Amino acid sequence: MIIVLNNKCNLTKEEFLTYQQNLEKIEGSNQIILCPSNVFLGLFNSNRIDLGSQNVSKNEMGAYTGEVSAKQLKSLDVKYSLVGHSERRKYNGEKPSDIAKKIKKLLENNITPIYCVGETKEERESNTYKDTIITDIKESLIDLNEEDKNKVIIAYEPIWSIGTGLIPSNDEIEEVIFLIKEQLPNNKVLYGGSANNENIDVLKNIKCIDGFLLGGLSLSIENLNKFINKL
Ligand code: PGA
Repeated sequence: MIIVLNNKCNLTKEEFLTYQQNLEKIEGSNQIILCPSNVFLGLFNSNRIDLGSQNVSKNEMGAYTGEVSAKQLKSLDVKYSLVGHSERRKYNGEKPSDIAKKIKKLLENNITPIYCVGETKEERESNTYKDTIITDIKESLIDLNEEDKNKVIIAYEPIWSIGTGLIPSNDEIEEVIFLIKEQLPNNKVLYGGSANNENIDVLKNIKCIDGFLLGGLSLSIENLNKFINKL
């Protein structure tokens, strides 16, 4: 299983260094990908864990104040990058056309995109969630050849589930995973949104899932250990 840890905008430098040391002790054969704040990417040091970023610029290196390019990430040994996280869409107005550019830049630099997609509560309730997800996938992965498309990891993250403690049923998650796999049969698919120690006993029975994307839970090594042991 792939376990992606999205630390979001958390931890100070000292806290990160301790966190990283403790993370190193996590046992098991799962692949762990840590996505810390950008400011800590250069401090990363591990043989056990892979490094991911939480975002990437859609542009090349150049006059883009505050941005970090895929080439710069590559120079820090970043192997994965989240793209299209709902918080980036909400607070930074990212659109599928931006996400498509970011995915291209990552692939050009041999960084694997972890593309996040999911529906709002309203879209689920009005039964339009399937259209939302399919349209987003089509627009975000537009213009990629088959080989590149297959490299993208998809994270199904219902927006109403992120940080809320609410999760869909396994049937609802499986329905979306199968929908994604219909479009992208060769891609790995993860689930993200309030996955924790209380619900992992249920979530681990989801069919055809390749792993989990963890936000809040990623910050506590103790809880993360419990989660991974239950998995
Ligand atoms: P959460 O976040 O696990 O805290 O719900 C998941 C995410 O934002 O990727």
